[in-house]
Amino acid sequence: MAESALTVLVTGGTSGVGRALVETLAAKGCTVLTTSRDPDRLDPTDRVPGVRYLRLDLSDPEGPDTLAGPGGLGGEIGDIDVLVNNAGESQSGPFEELPAEAVDRLFRTNVFGPVRLSQLVLPGMRRRGFGRIIMVGSMLASFPLAHRSSYSASKAALRGFATAARQELSPFGVWISVVEPGSIATGIGSRRTKYLDEDSPYAADVSTMLEHLDANEQSGISPEKVAAVIVDAIVSPRPREFYAVGSRAPLPFLLARALPRGLMSKIVAAQHGLRR
Ligand SMILES: NC(=O)c1ccc[n+]([C@@H]2O[C@H](COP(=O)([O-])OP(=O)(O)OC[C@H]3O[C@@H](n4cnc5c(N)ncnc54)[C@H](OP(=O)(O)O)[C@@H]3O)[C@@H](O)[C@H]2O)c1
Repeated sequence: MAESALTVLVTGGTSGVGRALVETLAAKGCTVLTTSRDPDRLDPTDRVPGVRYLRLDLSDPEGPDTLAGPGGLGGEIGDIDVLVNNAGESQSGPFEELPAEAVDRLFRTNVFGPVRLSQLVLPGMRRRGFGRIIMVGSMLASFPLAHRSSYSASKAALRGFATAARQELSPFGVWISVVEPGSIATGIGSRRTKYLDEDSPYAADVSTMLEHLDANEQSGISPEKVAAVIVDAIVSPRPREFYAVGSRAPLPFLLARALPRGLMSKIVAAQHGLRR
């Protein structure tokens, strides 16, 4: 299908990767829809011209169905050719101290919401024999990091759904891909939810890890670079199962094949200032 004929829904198009992607797709002439938890707060300079902004809070279990319901897209949900599940929460905290409610919210936002939204666009895609779903994961799913257990697990869960569902859907011309970015300079560090008990025995470790993480993100690749990889996946006649971009990919994946798992984990920890 010609790029300009595509109707694309990108979640979380108000900053970072989502914003860069929305700009790129709009410039290509696609019909672009995107989401924000609060589109009313956006002033005209926050909006990309020609792009439609819809309300979606993925942490609300009803969020995707409300978006697809009569007060949202209604029947138009069936017209979506491409869904990019980009919106996400970044969370940190020692495994022992993560509040259950925070982990629940993270999984609603990063896993259950994107899964439900994908289910809602699939009937239309299958009927037309064409569809693309991109799950924006994270390299932390492939290389988990201390004090990022919930986030690493949420992105690994999303990848599991996508990889299995791909095998169900490709016979219908619907391709699901995972894009795993490394560090991207989007300022996500300032929006990260952080959990740490008072007098936590992990405090020094967490602070070291966060310092390195934030420094890596600040010197990370541009969101436009990630957007370009997502566009490649969208326009490919046979999108790949998995794309990795940033943090010197594919090097870490090649190393992971060659080195023992334990050593690879030590390298990941060392890159974040942690000696293991
Ligand atoms: N930045 C990195 O280094 C990095 C690395 C690997 C993977 N990633 C992943 O890449 C994706 C984009 O990251 P980014 O750095 O571009 O993030 P970002 O700049 O913080 O943007 C996140 C977007 O998601 C939306 N959002 C946040 N919480 C939401 C919720 N509960 N429900 C619905 N929308 C929500 C925000 O919109 P509103 O605030 O308007 O609602 C915003 O548009 C995320 O999935 C992230 O996990 C990022």
